[in-house]
Amino acid sequence: MAAVAVLGYGTVGSGVAKILTENKTHVSRRAGEEIDLKYVLDLRDFPGDPVEKVLVHDFDTIVNDPEIRVIAEAMGRIEPAFTFAKKALEKGISFCTSNKELVEAKGAELIALAKENQANFFFEASVGGGIPVIRPMIQSLTADHFNEISGILNGTTNYMLTKMDKEGLSFEDVLKDAQEKGYAERDPEADVEGHDAGRKIAILASLAYEKQVNFQDVSMEGITDIDSADFAYAKALGMAIKLLGAARKKDGSTYALVAPFMVGADDPLYAVSGVFNAVKLHGDMLGNVMFYGKGAGKEATASAVVSDIVECVREQGRHVEILWDADSLELGNVAEYPFRYFVRLSGTVDGAALAAFGTVETVKAEGVNGETAFVTGEMTEAELSAAVEKSGAAMIKRIRLN
Ligand code: HSE
Repeated sequence: MAAVAVLGYGTVGSGVAKILTENKTHVSRRAGEEIDLKYVLDLRDFPGDPVEKVLVHDFDTIVNDPEIRVIAEAMGRIEPAFTFAKKALEKGISFCTSNKELVEAKGAELIALAKENQANFFFEASVGGGIPVIRPMIQSLTADHFNEISGILNGTTNYMLTKMDKEGLSFEDVLKDAQEKGYAERDPEADVEGHDAGRKIAILASLAYEKQVNFQDVSMEGITDIDSADFAYAKALGMAIKLLGAARKKDGSTYALVAPFMVGADDPLYAVSGVFNAVKLHGDMLGNVMFYGKGAGKEATASAVVSDIVECVREQGRHVEILWDADSLELGNVAEYPFRYFVRLSGTVDGAALAAFGTVETVKAEGVNGETAFVTGEMTEAELSAAVEKSGAAMIKRIRLN
């Protein structure tokens, strides 16, 4: 029998406890032995909840119990999760987590510690909620170099953008709805300013490029500026607006950013709506591959945590190699990476002034007047700024094209 513990009885932790209870027989068969939820750690009490039978308030009870084989953490924040992870791994207890803050900041160190102790540190649920993407990257796609990653990595903002587009709802109303559904972060700024997706692309890029990509180095723009006119233009262009996390390699440099993008209908990311996430990887041998599924929510995220628990039980005493060096990877300046841009200028801008942007494709949107909008060829941010200045027009907005 494999005894396991869950740290945190919030949205995800209670989902893990639910799956380990309701699907116990199924999960145990998959693991090859019985998985028993022995403890749930939380500071709070839950009178009347079945969790009471296994609830403890002290981590030492768990880590000092010689029966415990796997600890799953869903508390959030770096501390005390990091201290708990270290204590567990030092004792050879495998540790899995849905906590992207912990993984982004301490992933390399915890993987190394797991290796020293013939244990595992897994974090499938930290990116893309329930979508299996980390394990495929580590264990299936071992033949390829990943030169490009593009993902819809935040369920809350994708849910919001979809509702704003399809139902014309306001930013505030859809945010409230996403919060009620348990998708949003404790502080929803992390969702709408792109920080949550920033952590996730930092984790994916660290795995893809085998070195620490720091969240602080990722260029991040959120969705707070996106308005109904942008959606009208996107419709006219046959495109969708998506908050993407992206990492690219070009001329020996690596770039990582989060920003709203116009996505064409021929891109599989176009159809990824609502709380769904998708991660599209380009392997140098395989070409494109895309992983799609629910990116947030209790059961979906807990499903990924439980898959890690099962893997830890299966791999007891054997460390699964994950290449992620603690040395930071120096990222290139995103402003120097060429993109095509969708641009909105104030007023009617004549052809001579538009020539500053090179060859452009103009676009008109239903119900939007008093501005000039177009799509440029590939240019850097600096080239775009220079063109705006040369045209003498005032830029209302620019959105990159994927
Ligand atoms: N707030 C996150 C999201 C939760 O909306 O994607 C899952 O990481």
